[in-house]
Amino acid sequence: MIMNSFRIKAIAKSIPQKVVTNDDLTKIMDTSDEWIKRRTGITQRHIATRETNTSMCIDVAKQLVEKAGIDVDTINFIIVATMSGDYQTPSTAASVQGAIHADHAVAFDVDAACSGFVYGTSVMNSLLAGKPNGIGIVIGGEKLSRLINWQDRGTAVLFGDGAAGILVQNDGSTSQVVSENLSTYGADGMCLTAGHHAGQNPFGENQEQDDPYIKMDGHAVYNFATKRAPESIEQAVADAGLQLNDIKYFIMHQANERIVKRVAKKLGLSMDKFPVNIDKYGNTAAASEPILFTELEEQGLLQRGDYLALTGFGGGLTVGTVIIKY
Ligand code: COA
Repeated sequence: MIMNSFRIKAIAKSIPQKVVTNDDLTKIMDTSDEWIKRRTGITQRHIATRETNTSMCIDVAKQLVEKAGIDVDTINFIIVATMSGDYQTPSTAASVQGAIHADHAVAFDVDAACSGFVYGTSVMNSLLAGKPNGIGIVIGGEKLSRLINWQDRGTAVLFGDGAAGILVQNDGSTSQVVSENLSTYGADGMCLTAGHHAGQNPFGENQEQDDPYIKMDGHAVYNFATKRAPESIEQAVADAGLQLNDIKYFIMHQANERIVKRVAKKLGLSMDKFPVNIDKYGNTAAASEPILFTELEEQGLLQRGDYLALTGFGGGLTVGTVIIKY
């Protein structure tokens, strides 16, 4: 049991304006609303046209500061979880730090693909443990549309853009993170890849090819997710000294509604405990759990003291769960 102090003070999201429906996609590729809905649960996704990954993350950070009513000078750490930063360097987190003038904050990105927000939350929990009164921001932000091959209907229909995050403080009270369980399966990593830039140099033959777009063995990822996510959840719940039924909501990464249903079934739980919003956003990788978390909060469905399980899984391959006492 982790006893660091970690209290959520604010939660916020930023979603691109442009909505792209399944029907819109049928105009540019051989697909159908019926296929996409039946196989994934997705009806539409938001695609960043005017927004960048950085601008969405800055918007989230500004909302968090405003909602928490804190002075930006008091922020110690900013973490952005992303696999689609606008630049390799500067990190998205550094750009956020500069834009909001959080001059005393140390800022860096965490890349654990769709597990990024859970990994980032775990890192923030450890950082704050050594920082009495410390304040941190964790944002999951993605502009996955820039990694999509719009000729590949097997992946193009699945993803969307967006950002969301939390502002947390070590205020000396009991930590809201009651347990965590993270695992990495790097040997299986090549079944989900994106953003390979081999580059050229004048010093020898380069055998590698650029491979910028998301490429995925969908069946392998599906099997991974439906095996490892339930394992991670069960272990994290047990480590928290809880039973599965003690968890009010399982805020799972929204990759495919079928995956969420399969995980619920494997755990012997009703779908009432597994909120779903993939229909509106598609798979937004590291942004998906905090977007769903924010929506539950906005809808007034969360009460202080509720146990929540946040679970991510995906590229790496990675999986992770944090149990939060809200
Ligand atoms: N529209 C219409 N048909 C499509 C299509 C699309 N967008 N994409 C694929 N198809 C076709 C395939 O070509 C295939 O046709 P065939 O039978 O003639 O060969 C058929 O649909 C079935 O494809 P398949 O890949 O077997 O479908 P599936 O039921 O496994 O669903 C995924 C595919 C990607 C939705 C599913 O594997 C999945 O969700 N995997 C996990 C992905 C994931 O979570 N990734 C992110 C990790 S964080």
